[in-house]
Amino acid sequence: MTVVRTQVAIIGAGPAGMFLAHLLRRAAIDAVVIERRDRAYVEGRVRAGVLEQVTVDQMHRLGLADRLVRDGLIHDGTKLALDGQVFRIDLAALTGGSTVTVYGQQEVMRDLFDAATADDLAIMWNAADVALAGLNGNQPTVTWREAGIERTLACDFVVGCDGFHGVSRGAIPANVRATFERVYPFGWLGILADVPPADHELIYANHERGFALASMRSATRSRYYIQCGLDEDIGDWSDNRFWDELCRRLGPDAAARVTRGSSFEKTIAPLRSFVTEPMRWGRLFLAGDAAHIVPPTGAKGMNLAVSDVTMLGEALVEHYRERSDAGIDGYSARALARVWKAERFSWWFTSVTHRFPTMDGFDRRIQMAELDYIRRSPAAQRVLAENYVGLPLEVV
Ligand code: APR
Ligand code: PHB
Repeated sequence: MTVVRTQVAIIGAGPAGMFLAHLLRRAAIDAVVIERRDRAYVEGRVRAGVLEQVTVDQMHRLGLADRLVRDGLIHDGTKLALDGQVFRIDLAALTGGSTVTVYGQQEVMRDLFDAATADDLAIMWNAADVALAGLNGNQPTVTWREAGIERTLACDFVVGCDGFHGVSRGAIPANVRATFERVYPFGWLGILADVPPADHELIYANHERGFALASMRSATRSRYYIQCGLDEDIGDWSDNRFWDELCRRLGPDAAARVTRGSSFEKTIAPLRSFVTEPMRWGRLFLAGDAAHIVPPTGAKGMNLAVSDVTMLGEALVEHYRERSDAGIDGYSARALARVWKAERFSWWFTSVTHRFPTMDGFDRRIQMAELDYIRRSPAAQRVLAENYVGLPLEVV
């Protein structure tokens, strides 16, 4: 059996793994990505669509922003609605010029994979039974099976970018690992349809009947969501029923601008907040969904994956170039400081915009008061805006 050697083994070829692979390549650090599925599967998953400036900057730095510049939609504002009354948050004016960019995760993945092919990055697709060993010693190894053949990779470090259901997090012994979690008593029913969006910005709507979100992928492709029960059967949601419910929740003004059409994607996703600590154990680092999950309300999932690996990339460069371990020793604390702020924001934004089954009249009026306060107070809007566009990558 041949043992291949690399400096950094990356488990998972999602946004976290692929951004890191490109970052390390730019720094001439040798890395191999080991992915359980194939490219078509990873690229085909319909996920997030809003990029923070930190993520956009990273695409530029990696030289991967050509299509993003051409096709991404820069949003300098976002909208909220309370029982049909729509108001605007001027993100750019409130944050000294920061914006967000609408560009689907599928497009990001296509850019990362196309460049990986061009740059000849090592990606092992269809890797079954990935297992990690020696993480607490000096010479970790990753083993997997590929078309029935056993493969072994020896490395200096392993980075677990294998998402919430991956193997990496579980490789940290239970007695050193702490997890923190909130499961929300509802999900999001989302559709994609090739119709022009109702608005040129996103609308996050709190309505008596539940949350709704009007989003988009382009000027001709809309992405809409409505809050639904977790026991809901997708088969019960015809397109017509979906459009009717969406329009009710957005309110008459926005509903008048909704173009209906047949959906080509319809799924229900649960909402969860989850953090595992620490994000490093021995020679294993965790990044992205392997370490934390946010509810989609704040649009933070993919952005957090990118900010994690940006910090980890810096730390690994410091290790190899400057022979300093300060960065890798500080990675977990530095990443978690930003993760928890995004967790807080996503939890808060979910709490003020959704209908909870246990809500009584008091809770509802508190929500209404909070949204009305945001509508009228530039100070409250600023707090929302600076979190929504993404907090800076501070050094702790
Ligand atoms: N071995 C190898 N690869 C694995 C394993 C395993 N045991 N388990 C999972 N993977 C792969 C998955 O197939 C997937 O391609 O790891 C990758 C993890 O990708 P994501 O789940 O996208 O996680 P991440 O890169 O952290 O990105 C997080 O992007 O996908 C969104 O909702 C997600 O917004 C979040 C962000
Ligand atoms: C999306 O377009 O898929 C989207 C946008 C904003 C969110 C969540 C999802 O907060």
